[in-house]
Order: sequence, then C-alpha cells, then structure tokens
Amino acid sequence: MDHFLYRDGMLCAEDVPLAEIAASVGTPFYCYSAATLTRHYKLFDEALDGMEHLVCYAMKANSNQAVLKLLGDLGAGMDVVSGGEYRRARAAGIPGERIVFSGVGKTEEEMQTAIEGGIRQFNIESEPEMARLSGVAARLGAEVPVTIRVNPDVDAKTHEKIATGKSENKFGIPISRASAVYAQAAKLPGLKVIGIDVHIGSQLVDLDPFRLAFRKVAELTEQLRAEGHEISRLDLGGGLGIPYERSNADPPLPRDFGQVIREEVGHLGCEIEIEPGRLIAGNAGVLVSEVIYVKEGEDRQFLIVDAAMNDLIRPAMYGAHHDIIPLNEPAPGAEPARYDVVGPVCESGDTFTKGRDMAAMAPGELIAFRSAGAYGAVMASEYNSRPMIPEVLVQKDQFAVIRARPSFDEMINRDTIPEWL
Ligand code: LLP
Repeated sequence: MDHFLYRDGMLCAEDVPLAEIAASVGTPFYCYSAATLTRHYKLFDEALDGMEHLVCYAMKANSNQAVLKLLGDLGAGMDVVSGGEYRRARAAGIPGERIVFSGVGKTEEEMQTAIEGGIRQFNIESEPEMARLSGVAARLGAEVPVTIRVNPDVDAKTHEKIATGKSENKFGIPISRASAVYAQAAKLPGLKVIGIDVHIGSQLVDLDPFRLAFRKVAELTEQLRAEGHEISRLDLGGGLGIPYERSNADPPLPRDFGQVIREEVGHLGCEIEIEPGRLIAGNAGVLVSEVIYVKEGEDRQFLIVDAAMNDLIRPAMYGAHHDIIPLNEPAPGAEPARYDVVGPVCESGDTFTKGRDMAAMAPGELIAFRSAGAYGAVMASEYNSRPMIPEVLVQKDQFAVIRARPSFDEMINRDTIPEWL
C-alpha cells in the first residue's frame, strides 16, 4: 500500500494534490511520500522482531538526504557502496556504527574514509580486496569488523542485469572457497572477521531463491564455527521485489521474507542485517510529467511527455514496466486510448511503454509514473542537456523541495573551456 491515491478526482501524495506541486515546482519532478517510506521501513523492522537486527537501507535506491534522515530517525542503518554514499549518509546524520560498506571495487581512499569516519562493517567481496583492506586498516592502527560476501550460486530468477548470486556474476567469493578464504582472513592484521554476507539480486518476486541462499549461509555458519571462526552476524542483503504492475499478482511481503530468515537462520543466534532498497523507496515515489504533444503515427499514437529516459532510465535499460496514470482521475466508463509513451530525447530507446491502454490524454495534462521512488532520480543524467529534475517530499499536508531543479546556467557553467582553445 502506498499513499498516492485519488481524492475528489485528483491524484494526491498523502494530503497534497500532485497538480498543486506541479504548479509550484514545474514538471517533470519526483515526489516521495514520507508516510510510505516510514511504513515500508517499519514492515521490515517488524518482520525481524524478536531477533537482534538492523535494517540497513540500500541507499543506492534513493539517496536524497531527506530520505536518509527520515529513515535514519526511525533507526535505520545504511548500506553504502561508494565513498560518495558514505559521505552522504554521514551528512544526513547517520552514525558510522550504523553503516555497512558493500561493493566489489572499494578503493583505498574509500576504505580510509570509512575507517576514519567510523564504520559498522565492511562486506568484503574478494581476496585482493581483503588484502588491501587489511593493509589500510593496519596502517591506520585500526581493527575493522568484516563479513565476507559469499556467492551461493543461486538463480534469483530476475532480470539478468540485476541478478548477482550466480557463479558467473562478479559478486562475492564462491561459497565453495569460503573455508579457505576465511582461514586466510583470520590471519590478516587489521581485520576482525565477524560474519557472512550474501545478496543474490534485486526485484525477486519469489522467496525460494532467498530460502536456498540462506540455507547455504546457515550451513556455512556452522562449518566456519566448527573451524574456529566466530560468526556472530549475518548480512542477508536486499532484493525483495515490488508490484510494478497493479494488475499482477503481488510479490511476497517483508513479513514473509522475515519468516524465511527466521526459519533458515533463526536458530544460529546471529545478529541479522538486511539491505532492502527498492521495497522501501520504490512505491514511495512517483515521477510527474506533462504531456507535450499527442502525435499520430502511421499505425500508432505517441504520447510525447516532458520526462525522458535521462530522468527515468529503467524502461530503456531493463525493459521495466511503470504504471502510468493521469493526475485527473478518468470518469467512470471513459473511453481509454492506446499510446506509445515517449520522451523528447533523440533516440528510439527513449520509450517508456509501447501500445499501452490508458486514459485518453491531451497536451498540457499531467501524468504520474508510479513506483519511481527507487532507482529513478539516482540513475538520472543530463543527457541531451536536460537539467536534473527536482525532488519533492510530502508529509501529510505539507511538501518541500528536497532537491531543487538547477538553472540552465548552473548546468552549463560546470564546463570549463581551456584558455588555449
Ligand atoms: N545490497 C546490495 C549489495 C545490492 O547490490 C543491492 C542492489 C541491494 C542491497 C538492494 O537491493 P533491492 O532491495 O533494492 O532490490 N538499478 C536496478 C536495481 C539495481 C540493484 C543493485 N543492487 C533497477 O532499477 O532495477
């Protein structure tokens, strides 16, 4: 459930009509609902009730500092994957002891930043990275808590670009080699091995792959303990999918995910961490856009809107579906129309959907792309010299711009032309 509903025929974010925000900030823009973010975070927190745990929001999904502050105030930790994300989380007031650092390519500089600033744990993804981190920690006279990310070779049954738990993927160490790698880690200075990390992919709509992966982690925990390692923390990653198409069957809920965790690893007495991103932010955000033209093609109608692939790249990149609904609720029984919804960017890939039956629209009318709160704004670019679009947060009847639209000059003046040209 989210908080983007029609009231008196107008699509609202909580108690604020989106058209009101559009009139104030212009289109296109992203809009997030504080109540939905809060609700989704709490669902995960409650799902792990009774087990020592920390929900580390995967901030790559939506890293606006207002979002981070809201979740941080509820008690969330953060999963970061770059020095930039680490700094952003700290800037939003998240303490280092609630930040876990994931990612296959951490640099020495990033390691140092996090060690000096305070870190809950590093999730190590390879032997060379382990040696590098040991060197940095030893040089700084620190002993850093680490887990090692294992690749359980499980098919997550999701889009190939966002599956991470198969042996052919770049992530983690093969679970078959875990014993040797843990033995090596135990000897390295500066590292304190405390647990195991796993993340098998994103937008999973079936719990079975999670169950398989967690079962392997449980077996590994017992094996490593028998080999003398202290395994007290399990980071079980993120990846729970969301219902992008309202008409489709709903994916499992955080509660069901929590139940799988309880069943598979609950008996081990470990502290549990999870790293959900999409489920917390995805349905907590919409992208609002204005129809510029309705263009008659040879055998189709194009709805040309002022948002484009540079603002929301998921359809172009993954063939992803986003529901598209008008801000003015269609009258009951109104005749639908069939559109290819496209942006103004100069390539055919700038297509949000093809042949979609939806409410008939006219130029100047507003639409909302649903489920755009995760991997929307964070993946945006200025392609075609289109300035980044603003982000707005709504809470009850108030809204605030949480990232302003830059002016054309701000965008253009970032370039410098060398004197010698
Ligand atoms: N933990 C790690 C180590 C991850 O790599 C990811 C996502 C997550 C947690 C969070 O997964 P989530 O709960 O959000 O599924 N841009 C793509 C999604 C990329 C996901 C990358 N890693 C998209 O728009 O679908």
